[in-house]
Amino acid sequence: MKHFKAIAAMSLNRVIGDGNKIPWHLPEDFKWFKAKTVGNIALMGRKTFESLGRPLPNRRNLVLTRHPQKLLHEHPDVFEHFHEWRGGKDVGDDIKRPYQLFIPRVKARGREDLLLFKSLELIDPNEFDCDIFVCGGAQIYEQLLPRCSDLFLTVVKREVAGDALFPRFEDFFKLDEIVRDEAEFEIRHYRNPDPVSA
Ligand SMILES: NC(=O)c1ccc[n+]([C@@H]2O[C@H](COP(=O)([O-])OP(=O)(O)OC[C@H]3O[C@@H](n4cnc5c(N)ncnc54)[C@H](OP(=O)(O)O)[C@@H]3O)[C@@H](O)[C@H]2O)c1
Repeated sequence: MKHFKAIAAMSLNRVIGDGNKIPWHLPEDFKWFKAKTVGNIALMGRKTFESLGRPLPNRRNLVLTRHPQKLLHEHPDVFEHFHEWRGGKDVGDDIKRPYQLFIPRVKARGREDLLLFKSLELIDPNEFDCDIFVCGGAQIYEQLLPRCSDLFLTVVKREVAGDALFPRFEDFFKLDEIVRDEAEFEIRHYRNPDPVSA
């Protein structure tokens, strides 16, 4: 049975974002995020996607929104065209059944796939041949952390002002390892021994 994995960075007072941006700049942590997610799948909420402004390169990007048409029309620079998925066609080697509602094509961005989902129930990690990393933001962590087997959490060693907070995870995750300890941040690997199945 395969489960989601989560990757996040929070401050000592649990802040993960402010004004739809990440309120720190830690290039070493970004390199870590990249190393974990490249070649895998980055799953994110619509607000996080808009904050990035483009799909993350060299990864399949899954974006959750209840209003895919609105997102597509508000970002003509990102979405060239799309078609509504009604099943019956092969859409990629690692997708076993046709559950996407929209498959936008990203302008001149090669292998970067960008798939929009209207509902979490449509995403089953068992149907992908790589890891699905839950990449935020707060709403998505809140819903999916109980379903994650692993959490890679960067703890930024200071208090930061912000409006997006990391939800409680301590009740169901156990610390496995401190992966890195730097002056400004620490990377922790937590495991969830009993992730909730969909
Ligand atoms: N530090 C970190 O590790 C980290 C990582 C990522 C993000 N962030 C920060 O987190 C903040 C954003 O978090 P957020 O909670 O405001 O937004 P978010 O979780 O990124 O996105 C929320 C949106 O996702 C869609 N959504 C949520 N649940 C859904 C569901 N079950 N089915 C379909 N769509 C669903 C909705 O989009 P629609 O409204 O379009 O329907 C909702 O408005 C930003 O400040 C960002 O910088 C921090």
